[in-house]
Amino acid sequence: MPHDAALTPLDALVASPFAKLAELLTGIEPGKPPIDLSLGEPHGLMPPFLGPVLAGHLAEFGRYPPIRGIPALREAIVAWIGRRYPTLAGCIDPERHVLPLNGSREGLFSAIFPALARKPLAERPAVLIPNPFYQAYAAAAAASGAEPYFLPGTRETNFLADLDAIDEGLLRRTVALYLCSPSNPQGAVAPRAYLAKAIALARTYNFLLFADECYSEIYGANPPPGALETAQGETGSLANVVTFQSLSKRSGLPGLRSGFVGGDPDFIAAFARFRNVACPQVPLPVQHVSVAAWSDEEHVEQGRALYRANFDLADAILGRRYGYARPAGAFFLWLNLADFGGGERAATTLWKECGVKVLPGAYLARVEPDGENPGRDYVRVALVHEAGATREALTRIVATLG
Ligand SMILES: Cc1ncc(COP(=O)(O)O)c(C=O)c1O
Repeated sequence: MPHDAALTPLDALVASPFAKLAELLTGIEPGKPPIDLSLGEPHGLMPPFLGPVLAGHLAEFGRYPPIRGIPALREAIVAWIGRRYPTLAGCIDPERHVLPLNGSREGLFSAIFPALARKPLAERPAVLIPNPFYQAYAAAAAASGAEPYFLPGTRETNFLADLDAIDEGLLRRTVALYLCSPSNPQGAVAPRAYLAKAIALARTYNFLLFADECYSEIYGANPPPGALETAQGETGSLANVVTFQSLSKRSGLPGLRSGFVGGDPDFIAAFARFRNVACPQVPLPVQHVSVAAWSDEEHVEQGRALYRANFDLADAILGRRYGYARPAGAFFLWLNLADFGGGERAATTLWKECGVKVLPGAYLARVEPDGENPGRDYVRVALVHEAGATREALTRIVATLG
């Protein structure tokens, strides 16, 4: 029976890839001591300043935090934006342009509601989502009643959706376009010209560009361009554009739950009003730790060095197998295992034969109108462990699949 057959429509729209993976592997014993490469959870990168800062602010767990965050956090975020994207230095106002988030996921989800409210439509609103995609985007569309419209990207298009191919009628009823760069799962980076095109479309049809840039700090040779710096640099305005950033990947702190949204000041104001009644505040001690994390680059550089070392191992161990090509950003391998029965079959084989857990690509994607799931042939492999575990896992994969 296909996975979704017994589920309600909402479950079918938002089913967790990890729940599906657990179901797939139920009852199968791992052939070797397990190594879990299914989850994009950085390991062993906890910055040293975390404990003392947290300890110094413990008493503040006794207070409700302000939804807009403490000034020190918004200032640290704005200072980071200026260092990371020099075009934006001096252009971002901590009062008007940024809001803290409890990790980027809840923001990517809840931002859909003010996006819908700002564009009243007679027809059913649409949300444009890349395919494959981060599942919170589809959850946002499903929960808000908007129509999720999936935009395929293939290796030929650098895994980016073809923005020129979107129907004009669809664009007219679009309230938001999610764009992930560097992308999960393929690690593709949207060039500045592509971002500029997305921004121009958002303005022409008055929708929001939701730039999911939570992997902005995980890159190979060059820092990926950002949506806000492109908007400011090309047009002198941040209208219709917001970025979602996170400490989860940048600082190796997925359990801290801290990120921010920044950009279009009118949208940020509307989002702040909505968040003030509907969304989680960031706890004050977490805000103080976040100030320290956004203000420090050394631990981020160490993280990048670890990921680069892991990709060096992938270059050496995988070579050109499984369609592997070193990605420009993020920390995933997106391997084509069509020759091994496709992603689900290969993930089962790897778990059973050698204890390596990887995520079938189909679980990150939606079936296209032509009946094809663009992730079907693939598995996603998260290179988030230290070099020893990474080498062992990649070696086992090659030994098992050949
Ligand atoms: C593409 C993408 N966006 C957003 C998130 C959410 O991250 P967080 O809520 O930890 O900031 C993730 C987490 O894996 C992700 O892969």
